[in-house]
Amino acid sequence: MALFIRSEELTGLISITEAVDAVEKGFASQEDHPVFSLPRQRMLANDRRITVHSGGCVPLGVAGTFVHYERHNYTAQDQSYAAVGTRVYVCYDSETGALLAIIAGCPPFYRRQAAGDEFATETAITSAVGTRRMARQDAAVLGLYGTGRQARRHVEAMCAIRPIREVRVYSRSAGNRRAFCDTMQPHVDAELKPVDRPEDAARNVDVIVCATGSNMPVVFGRWLEEGVHVTSIVGSNKELLMEGLVSRPRRELDDEVLARADVIVATLVQQGIQDEQGDLLEPVRNGVLAWNDIEDLSALVTGKTPGRRSDKDITLFKQNSDQGVGYMALARLVHDKARAAGIGMEF
Ligand SMILES: NC(=O)c1ccc[n+]([C@@H]2O[C@H](COP(=O)([O-])OP(=O)(O)OC[C@H]3O[C@@H](n4cnc5c(N)ncnc54)[C@H](OP(=O)(O)O)[C@@H]3O)[C@@H](O)[C@H]2O)c1
Repeated sequence: MALFIRSEELTGLISITEAVDAVEKGFASQEDHPVFSLPRQRMLANDRRITVHSGGCVPLGVAGTFVHYERHNYTAQDQSYAAVGTRVYVCYDSETGALLAIIAGCPPFYRRQAAGDEFATETAITSAVGTRRMARQDAAVLGLYGTGRQARRHVEAMCAIRPIREVRVYSRSAGNRRAFCDTMQPHVDAELKPVDRPEDAARNVDVIVCATGSNMPVVFGRWLEEGVHVTSIVGSNKELLMEGLVSRPRRELDDEVLARADVIVATLVQQGIQDEQGDLLEPVRNGVLAWNDIEDLSALVTGKTPGRRSDKDITLFKQNSDQGVGYMALARLVHDKARAAGIGMEF
């Protein structure tokens, strides 16, 4: 029998680190079965967008797809969501072929859960997989760009994987920076501090997370110090240009960030090539790096690429899109937790 699960029923049952461990296993499986997953596929009609993330994880016995639909608003500066449909996982037992589960909604991993804010909970988990492998073990100061949904998740995820004691928070609006710190302070042990200048979230920090809706660079290579790890989540896709929604591919980093990075890992390099993503394609076009200078997350988590080699290395994780293997690994975790707790409806 398959299970129909409403994700919100799992509230309090899955920790961030359990989710990070699961997603890491999903990406490890991609190294052995690279064609058992596809890069994220997006279809656009003006501001309408449907997205599928498909794949399977043989060691976890799960395969399927994750689908979502939104309508977007774009300006020259940033993007926002005008409407968001419930996201759905459809997953099979990859060994028996039986339908395993249909899961409605994104799993609740975080201490702060707010109504209407439940989507895209997986992104910070994938960011944490790469960051856990690349940031210095003793990383204590986090610079955070963005004060929205992803920023809230990323601050919790980063504090779960490193001994973060201080977070410097920047977004364009002073009110948003203050509201973010007030809202999130009860949910993390680290001290949250709004900063007024963007460079103050990059200088003298150990980890930088860019979790903005920006279409233009927010972090500049000239600000980076030795030993820092940078994670950036803005993707892009060529269809945005084809539909006239943006005039150039979206960016969150300037070329100098990529030029200065000793190690660059993307969630999936092929995603950057397929989608012509600004933060990867433009530095390649500008001769700053070649596509084969960038490693996949699957190679990082299986140790095929070493990641950080010294405390002085500058490392970069371009979390350029969640992938089917990560979603399916989470679906397996959600299914198994639901079964164990007697949650969900058999059908
Ligand atoms: N890689 C992935 O798999 C993945 C998955 C999901 C989402 N994403 C990306 O995640 C991003 C954030 O999504 P969200 O849901 O968190 O959006 P959101 O709730 O709308 O938040 C966007 C934030 O970006 C800040 N911002 C915009 N421009 C900025 C700039 N120039 N400098 C500093 N902060 C800036 C905004 O604050 P102010 O207005 O105060 O500046 C706001 O706090 C989006 O770009 C989305 O495409 C990536």
